[in-house]
Amino acid sequence: MQAFIVLYSIFTIFVISTALDILLATQSISNSETIVSSGENFELGFFNPGNSSSRYIGIWYKKLSTRTVVWVANRDMPLQHTSGALKLSDQGILALSDDANNTIWSSNSSRSATNPIAQLLDTGNLVVRDGNDNDSQSFLWQSFDHPSDTALPGMKLGKNWVTGLNLLLTASKSSDNPSSADCTIHLDINGLPQFLMRKGPAVIYRTGHWNGLYFSGLPNLKPNPFYKNGLVSNPVETYYFYQLVNHSVVTTLVLTPDGKLQRFIWIDRAQSWSVYATIPVDGCETYAMCGAFGSCNISNSPVCGCLRGFVPKSPQDWNAADWSNGCVRKMPLYCRNGEGFLKYSGIKLPDTRQSWYNRTMDLEECNNMCLKNCSCTAYATLDIRGGGSGCILWFGELIDIREFNENGQDIYIRMAASELRKILYTPKQSFTNRRENGDLELPSFDFATINYATDNFSINNVRGFGPVYKGILEGGQQIAVKRLSAYSTQGIDEFMNELFCIAKLQHRNLVKLLGCCIHDEERILIYEYMPNKSLDTFIFDPERSILVDWPKRFLIINGIARGLQYLHYDSRLRIIHRDLKAGNVLLDKEMNPKISDFGMAKIFGGDETEAQTSRVAGTYGYMPPEYVIDGLFSIKSDVFSFGVLVLEILSGKRNRRFYHPDHMLNLLGHAWRLYKEDRPLELIDGSFRESFNPTEMLRSIHVGLLCVQKSPEHRPTMCTVVLMLSSDTVLPQPKEPGFLNERYVPRVDFSQRKQDGCSTSNNGLTITLQEGR
Ligand SMILES: *[C@@H]1O[C@H](CO)[C@@H](O)[C@H](O)[C@H]1NC(C)=O
Ligand SMILES: *[C@@H]1O[C@H](CO)[C@@H](O)[C@H](O)[C@H]1NC(C)=O
Ligand SMILES: *[C@@H]1O[C@H](CO)[C@@H](O)[C@H](O)[C@H]1NC(C)=O
Ligand SMILES: *[C@@H]1O[C@H](CO)[C@@H](O)[C@H](O)[C@H]1NC(C)=O
Ligand SMILES: *[C@@H]1O[C@H](CO)[C@@H](O)[C@H](O)[C@H]1NC(C)=O
Repeated sequence: MQAFIVLYSIFTIFVISTALDILLATQSISNSETIVSSGENFELGFFNPGNSSSRYIGIWYKKLSTRTVVWVANRDMPLQHTSGALKLSDQGILALSDDANNTIWSSNSSRSATNPIAQLLDTGNLVVRDGNDNDSQSFLWQSFDHPSDTALPGMKLGKNWVTGLNLLLTASKSSDNPSSADCTIHLDINGLPQFLMRKGPAVIYRTGHWNGLYFSGLPNLKPNPFYKNGLVSNPVETYYFYQLVNHSVVTTLVLTPDGKLQRFIWIDRAQSWSVYATIPVDGCETYAMCGAFGSCNISNSPVCGCLRGFVPKSPQDWNAADWSNGCVRKMPLYCRNGEGFLKYSGIKLPDTRQSWYNRTMDLEECNNMCLKNCSCTAYATLDIRGGGSGCILWFGELIDIREFNENGQDIYIRMAASELRKILYTPKQSFTNRRENGDLELPSFDFATINYATDNFSINNVRGFGPVYKGILEGGQQIAVKRLSAYSTQGIDEFMNELFCIAKLQHRNLVKLLGCCIHDEERILIYEYMPNKSLDTFIFDPERSILVDWPKRFLIINGIARGLQYLHYDSRLRIIHRDLKAGNVLLDKEMNPKISDFGMAKIFGGDETEAQTSRVAGTYGYMPPEYVIDGLFSIKSDVFSFGVLVLEILSGKRNRRFYHPDHMLNLLGHAWRLYKEDRPLELIDGSFRESFNPTEMLRSIHVGLLCVQKSPEHRPTMCTVVLMLSSDTVLPQPKEPGFLNERYVPRVDFSQRKQDGCSTSNNGLTITLQEGR
């Protein structure tokens, strides 16, 4: 039902209709309300606020016993001791003039009407439209486009991209004075939209973005029985709205004179308004309270803390409770491989004004995108409904984070590799008492289960670096349990590395991590059990090598190649294994190879292909020259190790311990010599002579030699290797391999080796060298 503005009213002093303009109402100096128009729920008229003598045109609730003005036309231009008139011009302009005929307020419109009508709708919206226009929703002007300090149900707060209108609430100076104070709240549309409350130009409060259910900073304002709300974003407009669920409820959203946004609900029984919600709620809501990379927790004292891995920028100020300078990283970011994200839960996501977002990407795509971009400092899910969707990326400083004791969202913050590992195995300090395990969704086993499954860690060592035990879970599943010494930092470092690298990898030629267990000082990884142990227990063993005939060996070579190809190209991350060797290739029941032991693996960013380290880690005999000499590693380092492994599988001999009566060459040198002398098949181990296949063998030798080329550029990629092995394309001629006669005499003084830098395995020395300079 709509109430037409009428030309008569009991309080109207007089009414004139001129040829040009329609005079809606005039009023003389009076302190009583002068109703111009009355609808079902609202009235439009002249009024004096409180004890003020100023007169205003406004809209208020009709039926409430307490006069509640929801809109004021001339809030900054009151009528002072004068009479006035509200007119609707024949162009469709509403104008308020004083007794000297000065227009003190008017509506405006880009269109003019042939038959203008002004109406006060039941929603409390005063509209001007063209009576000849059939579309009753097409307004020349509406008061909802010019909010005062109150948002009514159905009103939009935000930006209209077509008209350019920015709909915001501006507080009144006081309850007696509706003129505009300098406090506003508006939907900021830089980056991902969020409400900002400002005092003058300064931001004093931020709601956080709309996450589909609530504003990120207001997790307690969840769906409720009174109203529903949301954010609409389309090419025409981006706005926040709320609508009543139960139409007998009366509610308003008001920016109050003291700078609070309050939702009121009318209580009929008490005949008064009750405050349903108020923001800001507490001291933690003051914008940027704890500075960049700081986090506010109202139950802590002091409330401000630095995020983990960060320290106060200015400790002196910080200790004097001036937190505005915020925090800085302990370890700077260099955008190197190994950088990752630390997950924080239960927080108000930081200021999104500098953010980038996409509503359809999932969290994994979001992670990849952030990892690829060196200036990306954090990411999070945009919309938390239904398991989550969308992606927000932050660049640069993270500002205005707070921590909630319940609810709140997850964010993933970029950390330097070393810091990430340190944090993950250090008991938590102050930030939060939730479990942080980085971006891992890995089953966590409890220690008692593992203890029981391994019969108190008594079942024999299976293999590998660090004790590995066989275990049987209650359901009968066999597991391999890798237990790291609690007191070796190297072990813990590698544990975290392994966890990060392999947790999300899925490939039939990679060993599968089933879970982990962190218990006091214990760090345990649980793998699928490989009954046939590692490849070295077959190929280098004179008796067991007979069990692996050529077809099986060729399958093993191909399987390892595909596993490496996956690591280098197809997995979510680009991973360089750095310690590929026969001892790290496990065999399942069917003798399918599974690459294992990711303790030294490096994760590379998207376009990164090469890195340098001062801590050369790997296994002698498998490391390429550029790595041992210059610490340079790349995917081509793994290709070199693969080449060595292929030649070992073919010959049944270890590269490093190779001995030949005729020369001082290692296995690579020997293979190269036989190849040059055109008798390559003499390399083949006699133990599988019966299954001889010269074509496949020659091809494998050829590929093996190409992989161990001295210069990384001359080595094929694993993609090419997989193709070379499975097709009969013509292969390039290999050149002389790298390291063909060196016996890897270490050029370093072992006494200078870092204590945490040495680890041994039962199948060839895995060693870490400090660069000998
Ligand atoms: C104001 O305008 C009306 C008609 O538009 C006119 O009749 C009246 O005399 C004017 N009053 C003054 C004070 O100019
Ligand atoms: C309405 O008036 C305001 C300022 O008075 C002006 O900025 C705006 O462009 C006007 N809009 C139209 C549609 O004329
Ligand atoms: C709507 O609100 C009124 C007043 O609060 C209440 O009496 C009524 O039960 C509500 N109706 C529904 C369907 O919730
Ligand atoms: C958002 O992500 C989807 C899926 O990844 C992509 O197709 C789309 O182009 C992206 N949109 C923008 C604006 O980047
Ligand atoms: C990283 O993101 C920023 C901000 O969106 C963009 O300007 C820059 O081009 C991106 N850099 C790369 C390498 O994609």
